[in-house]
Amino acid sequence: MKDLILELRNDLKGRLTPSRFEHTISVSFICTALAMRYGCDLNKAELAGLLHDCAKPYGDEDIIRKCRKQDLLLTDDELRAPVVLHAKYGAWLAAHKYRIKDEEIINAIRWHTTGRAEMSILEKIVFTADYIEPRRDRAVNLALVRSVAFVDLDECVYQILKETLDYLDGKGSFVDSMSKQAYAYYKQVHEEKKGEQG
Ligand SMILES: [Fe+2]
Ligand SMILES: [Fe+2]
Repeated sequence: MKDLILELRNDLKGRLTPSRFEHTISVSFICTALAMRYGCDLNKAELAGLLHDCAKPYGDEDIIRKCRKQDLLLTDDELRAPVVLHAKYGAWLAAHKYRIKDEEIINAIRWHTTGRAEMSILEKIVFTADYIEPRRDRAVNLALVRSVAFVDLDECVYQILKETLDYLDGKGSFVDSMSKQAYAYYKQVHEEKKGEQG
């Protein structure tokens, strides 16, 4: 497994832009830190983090073409805001180009852009690491989200989705329905917890 991780790191270094590669390495290490906290397999978390943006070198049009070539179904939402599609094609690449057999890793890559309701721990770890890794500096609530990430992962996912949807709404940008479903789900988890506490 360690050899595979080093091999993948070399491969991605040659394929990603320097800043995307830095982001990738940061995400993979934050994934391992979160995996330590939440009792997940460290190698799986590192692998999922390393590969999460493996389809990033391709532009939107290219990715749409490549998805169609592999018979990956594209939703109307994905065609409207194709920026999320590097997750779907990345999951395909992970399985077919990088020969990753583990479904949990594939799904963590698959859902890292939109999120979804009822994510596995590994899915939540990659989704969160992608948002909080130390190179990130744009989101307004980063300090809060970073402080929650190692305390309550569901609450952290809720805060990330809330911020992302508010930001996209504010810009008048389209929001994928998977993200809306994810937000509704984690909002309910958040409110149930608040009810129990209060
Ligand atoms: Fe991504
Ligand atoms: Fe990313």
